[in-house]
Amino acid sequence: MTRKKEYGNESAEQYIEWFLPFAKEFKRVLTNDGSFVLDLGGAYLPGNPVRSIYQYELLVRLCKELGFFLAQEFYHYNPSRLPTPAEWVTVRRIRVKDSVNIVWWLSKTPNPKADNRKVLKPYSESMKNLLKNGYKAKVRPSGHDISDKFQKDNQGAIPPNLLEIANTESNSPYMKRCKEAGLKPHPARFPAGFAEFFLKFLTDEGDVVLEPFAGSNTTGFVAENLKRRWISFEINEDYVKGSMIRFG
Ligand SMILES: C[S@@+](CC[C@H](N)C(=O)[O-])C[C@H]1O[C@@H](n2cnc3c(N)ncnc32)[C@H](O)[C@@H]1O
Repeated sequence: MTRKKEYGNESAEQYIEWFLPFAKEFKRVLTNDGSFVLDLGGAYLPGNPVRSIYQYELLVRLCKELGFFLAQEFYHYNPSRLPTPAEWVTVRRIRVKDSVNIVWWLSKTPNPKADNRKVLKPYSESMKNLLKNGYKAKVRPSGHDISDKFQKDNQGAIPPNLLEIANTESNSPYMKRCKEAGLKPHPARFPAGFAEFFLKFLTDEGDVVLEPFAGSNTTGFVAENLKRRWISFEINEDYVKGSMIRFG
């Protein structure tokens, strides 16, 4: 979400102390069936090929101290990430490319509103064949009993908690408009598909979505398109100006 080198925020270690007071207020304003979704980029510790564990420390504190529940963890996979840090990945070749952000889906109660039927994925070719040609009900080598209920067409597959969404937005209207207006695009936008997944999965039309670290306001823009009501906060005035460009 926010790291010192990119936004002038706190370093990964200080990030937790900085973040917790915000999180307390997010919990206060969250509805009982609402969700709090936190996308966190990984980080290496300075000077060594070892990783910060701040995402996990933060999760423990959010749950143990503030009383959030972990509804589910997600991994936000961006296949087009660059192989950094160069020292460990491309020079010494002792680490592989880091291509996932961890996403904590947190809630105030154990039963936040959610419906995976709203985020179904298109069926794979093999599943389409199966639905067309049928499947002989039998016990799989794994011991799972594949009964004929697997042949029911549910209009799509239930998505996994690995979200593969490439962040390649180079010719989007937002980018074009920033260029025309001579504005620097926000350096750490997440893809619209990411916001779209969670807004569809966890909210309904008319619900209120709060984005407290809006950046270019991807969340607000997607929420508007999905007929959710939205409130976004952003501390940097230039980013706010840039975000207005999204709305034409
Ligand atoms: C990772 S960016 C969010 C990018 C966003 N997801 C998007 O797609 O454009 C985090 C943003 O939080 C903003 N920020 C940091 N501290 C803040 C604060 N206290 N209140 C509001 N915004 C803050 C930063 O200026 C930065 O733009």
